[in-house]
Amino acid sequence: MRTPSCGTGARPYLAGMGAPVDTSPVILEQIPQTQDRRFAFTDVFGNDKPVELELGIGKGRFLIQSAEAHPERNWVGVEWASRYYRMVAERAAKRGLHNLRVLRDDAGKVVRDNVGDAAVDVLHVYFPDPWPKARHLKRRLVQAPFAREAARILKDGGSVQLATDHEDYAVQMEEVFNADPDFEQTFRAVGDEAPEGVTNWEVKFRREGRTIHKFEYRRKPRGSA
Ligand SMILES: C[S@@+](CC[C@H](N)C(=O)[O-])C[C@H]1O[C@@H](n2cnc3c(N)ncnc32)[C@H](O)[C@@H]1O
Repeated sequence: MRTPSCGTGARPYLAGMGAPVDTSPVILEQIPQTQDRRFAFTDVFGNDKPVELELGIGKGRFLIQSAEAHPERNWVGVEWASRYYRMVAERAAKRGLHNLRVLRDDAGKVVRDNVGDAAVDVLHVYFPDPWPKARHLKRRLVQAPFAREAARILKDGGSVQLATDHEDYAVQMEEVFNADPDFEQTFRAVGDEAPEGVTNWEVKFRREGRTIHKFEYRRKPRGSA
C-alpha cells in the first residue's frame, strides 16, 4: 500500500495570513497541536468558528467553493496525492482564503491521530476510492473503526456527509453508520433524488449518467445513545 509522506523542510500553508504563500506539503509538526499531537483548530485559524473537515479533496472544488461561500466557518481538507494537494493549495492561495487549510497525508491517519474529540462540526467524505477488488476491500476508508473515530471527532449534533457512485460501497457506508450507536441517519437519496453537489467527481459522474448515492448521519448527543 502506498505510504504518503509529509515531506521535509516544508512550511505550513499560510495563504491569506500575511505570510509568504508556500504551496509545499504541510507537515503536521508545524501546525499548532496540543501535547497529544492533535490539532488545536482555534490556534490554526486564530478563531473558534465551526470546523468542517473534508477527506480526500481531489481537485478541491467543494472545499474551495465552500470556504468562499462560508467565511463564517473554517474548512480543512486532507489529500494524500501531492498533485491535488498542490493544486488546491495554489487555488486557495490565489483567492486569499483565510478560512481554509489543506494537509497532505492519509485521511484515516489524520482523523485517528491528529483530530481531537468533539473538534469538528461537519465531516465530508465524497467519492472515496472504492477499492473494488476483493483483496483491496480492507483499504476502504468507511469501515466500522472509521465510524467510531467519526463519532469521537464530531461535536454533539454534528454530521457526516457521504457520497459515492459505487453501489457496493454505498451499501457498506449505510451498514457501517446504521450499525454505529452514536449515529442516526438523517438523509439518504439515490440517483435522480440525490441533490446535486459540487465536487469534481460528482460533476464528472453525473455527466456519465452514473447513479449517485448520498447519506447524512447525525452524531447523537453524548450520553444519549
Ligand atoms: C475519487 S476522488 C474524489 C475527490 C473529491 N472528493 C471529489 O468528489 O471530487 C478520491 C480522492 O481521495 C484521495 N484519497 C484516496 N485515499 C486517500 C487517503 N487515504 N488519504 C487522503 N486522500 C485520499 C485521492 O487521491 C483522490 O483525490
